Amino acid sequence: MDKVAVYPGSFDPITYGHIDIVERALEIFDKVIVAVAHNAEKRPLFSTEERRKIIKALFKDNRNVIVDSFKGLLVDYVAKTNAKVIIRGLRATSDFEYEFHMASMNRSLNTHLDTLFMMTNKDYFFVSSRTIKEVAKLGGGVEGLVPDLVSRRLKEKFKLPIPKKSQIGWDD
Ligand code: PNS
Repeated sequence: MDKVAVYPGSFDPITYGHIDIVERALEIFDKVIVAVAHNAEKRPLFSTEERRKIIKALFKDNRNVIVDSFKGLLVDYVAKTNAKVIIRGLRATSDFEYEFHMASMNRSLNTHLDTLFMMTNKDYFFVSSRTIKEVAKLGGGVEGLVPDLVSRRLKEKFKLPIPKKSQIGWDD
């Protein structure tokens, strides 16, 4: 039977740090479900559907990556899949407390599930979706930290000029 893990997150937007975690998780699991949280409390820049579409486009050539979205409790979503493991990336000690609380809460909600933490690649320690959005909004370059598709979508959102040849539709 396939070993499956769920990699949940806001992915607003997905960065190379996230992508690196997916790729490394695929060394351990047969399939990884990237699960975009609907997350009604946060006001994301990209809608759930936009985030799902971006990630789907980025992994379109990898049959072992499934892209989905979910509402409500993560553990309820994971229980509906055939995964037993939740993957989270850890950048620095500052991530630890939040992640520790979340993993402990999830474990108390469903003792059949476990959280597996993977250290973020050192090249992306300083990369977060929040800082990417802030830099992109102010016209700073985020190339090398997010895929080109994400960089173009950010420019569209912030109404910044996009080189003509890279104006492609959402479904590309
Ligand atoms: O990328 P993020 O914002 O750090 O991801 C956080 C996420 C989406 C994994 C977390 O907020 C979550 O699991 N939300 C779903 C609601 C839930 O299950 N909350 C209880 C966990 S303590």
